[in-house]
Amino acid sequence: MNILITGGAGFIGSHLIRHLLEAHPAYTITNLDKLTYAGNLANLRDVESSPNYRFVRGDIADGAFLMELFKEQRFDGVIHLAAESHVDRSIANPTEFVVTNVLGTVNLLVAARAAWEGQYDGKRFYHVSTDEVYGTLGSDGLFTESTAYDPHSPYSASKASSDHFVRAFHDTYGLPVVISNCSNNYGPCQFPEKLIPLFINNIRLMKPLPVYGKGENIRDWLWVLDHAKAIDLIYHRGTSGQTYNIGGHNEWTNIDLIKLLCRIMDRKLGREAGTSQSLISYVTDRAGHDLRYAIDASRLQRELGWTPSVTFEQGLEETVDWYLGNQAWLDEVTSGAYQHYYEKMYTDR
Ligand code: NAD
Ligand code: DAU
Repeated sequence: MNILITGGAGFIGSHLIRHLLEAHPAYTITNLDKLTYAGNLANLRDVESSPNYRFVRGDIADGAFLMELFKEQRFDGVIHLAAESHVDRSIANPTEFVVTNVLGTVNLLVAARAAWEGQYDGKRFYHVSTDEVYGTLGSDGLFTESTAYDPHSPYSASKASSDHFVRAFHDTYGLPVVISNCSNNYGPCQFPEKLIPLFINNIRLMKPLPVYGKGENIRDWLWVLDHAKAIDLIYHRGTSGQTYNIGGHNEWTNIDLIKLLCRIMDRKLGREAGTSQSLISYVTDRAGHDLRYAIDASRLQRELGWTPSVTFEQGLEETVDWYLGNQAWLDEVTSGAYQHYYEKMYTDR
């Protein structure tokens, strides 16, 4: 098996690559990544010298480059994660999200179709997507695979569009595709613009914790390795043309999650109880902020036997330990351009 992973230097992609190299040592894994601000080869330092792993720097928005790569490499499968992934950045700069998330996905579909030329036996195009395509829930109900799409942010609109193209290539050309829509991931190596690593970083530096609105929005959190394992399972055993929802059965209001994180950080840093919580600062809400996401993952559980493996409390402890044990990683990714981003996003919010 010769598999192309796109976006492998990012948060989820790096965990997926490490997992695949361990679980399938006979596979050849090619990691194609543009190395945007979110891509970091340090996330893969421990596996970069594996004989069956190689890194290619490239942009999925470049269709001609992809055609060449697919011609040269004869991939059996693609697991596509490369994307602009942060909602707040999509509000500030939507066009970039269309270029990478929509055009980039279509370019990959075109290249895979051309390379496989209707010889689809043993081939698979796996598109990694998000629960945000379904829009928002009220206080009850869950997103199922048949929930109508209703994206609200430029990010989720671009992911919804890419999902539609993937299905269109299946229905029109018979391309063997599979899609998964997953809830919020957390764990080591997540770029500290997303809630959990941003707040861990701010707490360690005694900086304010900017809670959007009243902190009442609800997210369903999943340990990143459980997502990687679900992708492995779906890639190998999922039905072609099918969608699988992936979630943690783990809903938290932002404010409850933040208070739990504050308690863990006070304990780990040896600070007096309540120190971190005093940093909470309520700021202007995110525009178009979805109230609640929650996933019904019963298809994945029923058909493929997947369930999350760690409790949130365990996963969060491990996450905090990782960031506190890797403060140089945090310092490096939050220097330079990040400072400018942070000031622009959070000053006078
Ligand atoms: P991330 O932002 O950490 O990583 C994205 C990676 O894609 C980076 O390595 C970046 O360099 C690369 N990339 C961006 N533009 C590229 C381009 N034009 N060409 C090639 N590479 C490019 O993202 P993540 O959180 O790891 O998310 C990965 C995927 O999973 C995304 O498709 C995202 O929509 C999806 N997803 C994420 C979550 C989550 O909670 N993080 C949940 C569900 C789904
Ligand atoms: O649901 C899956 C999605 O989860 C993925 O598709 C996205 O790639 C990923 O970024 C994530 O999107 P969210 O917008 O839910 O994640 P984020 O970490 O940005 O925010 C989580 C919640 O915390 C959300 O309700 C907004 C709030 N928040 C976030 C930040 C960055 C704050 O209150 N303050 C903040 O500074």
